Amino acid sequence: MSDRPRVVVTRRLPGPVEEELVSRFDAQLNPEDRPFSAGELAEAAGAAQALLPTVTDKVTAEVLSAGSGELKIVANFGVGYNNIDVDAARELGIVVTNTPGVLTDCTADIAMILLLTVARRTGEGERQLRAGDWTGWRPTHMLGTKVAGKTLGIVGLGRIGKAVAKRAHHGFGMRILYHDSYPIPEAEAAALGAEERSLEDLLAESDFVTLHCPATPETRHLINSETLKTMKPGAFLINSARGDVVDEAALVEALQSGTIAGAGLDVYEGEPSVTPELLEMENVVLLPHLGSASTETRVAMGMRAVENLDAYFKGDPPPDRVA
Ligand code: DGY
Repeated sequence: MSDRPRVVVTRRLPGPVEEELVSRFDAQLNPEDRPFSAGELAEAAGAAQALLPTVTDKVTAEVLSAGSGELKIVANFGVGYNNIDVDAARELGIVVTNTPGVLTDCTADIAMILLLTVARRTGEGERQLRAGDWTGWRPTHMLGTKVAGKTLGIVGLGRIGKAVAKRAHHGFGMRILYHDSYPIPEAEAAALGAEERSLEDLLAESDFVTLHCPATPETRHLINSETLKTMKPGAFLINSARGDVVDEAALVEALQSGTIAGAGLDVYEGEPSVTPELLEMENVVLLPHLGSASTETRVAMGMRAVENLDAYFKGDPPPDRVA
């Protein structure tokens, strides 16, 4: 039996990350990439010192306390860690880490892709062309919404929110409003062209609203039937944060009734299921949780998780400890 720490890795990771894990730990990989059931996850965690889960694993109190109680650290592959019961981890003395910083640019890019795609109807246009239904150029064909000069409301101005502000303001000439429970220093806000607003004012003034807040009990269904009604008529909603932040049923209703003009979504309440009505709507852009999906970023996320594990088992503070 190996005297190296046993690390259970729940999904296939990019090659260089798996190689690094195998070289440093007694790593149990998942070559088939089949998601663990709740029972399998508990069994695997109960027989390991470390768990390296992803957003698709529900790391509950039962999982954390399973087996012989040897589990010491959960090194999440992702910046969001709402898939982990961090309160239970704290109570059990289990360290939790995440992978901040390395996915900022790619996730901000996806928010801009959603915004531009829904505004300029490019998904719809591509579908039309591929279906052989394009009859040629004409002045009134598939007219979208101009982005330059419009107001973008950013809910949550952390790393990713700021990267979106930078792109939208400096790259696309948008006016930026933001709402965050921790307002940023004025000089930093000025450099991003960002003005602070209450959530209510931001929703009322913005042509586009993009969500970049973490999923917490406080932000669950922050966008609901009431808040959707307070959005500017003709506005668009973009969500590349977490599905739970939006009440998906209320969003469907708001889109059906024309309360808002469209939506761009990368995340869903019941991933990988998507509320069926959304699939039928041309004014909605739907991506399969691609925020951090570039080779460079996924390798960097994995290496960050490896560094956290390595530091912990060497007796050093893990750089990205969140609990
Ligand atoms: C993240 O890091 O939060 C991504 O959404 C993948 O989980």
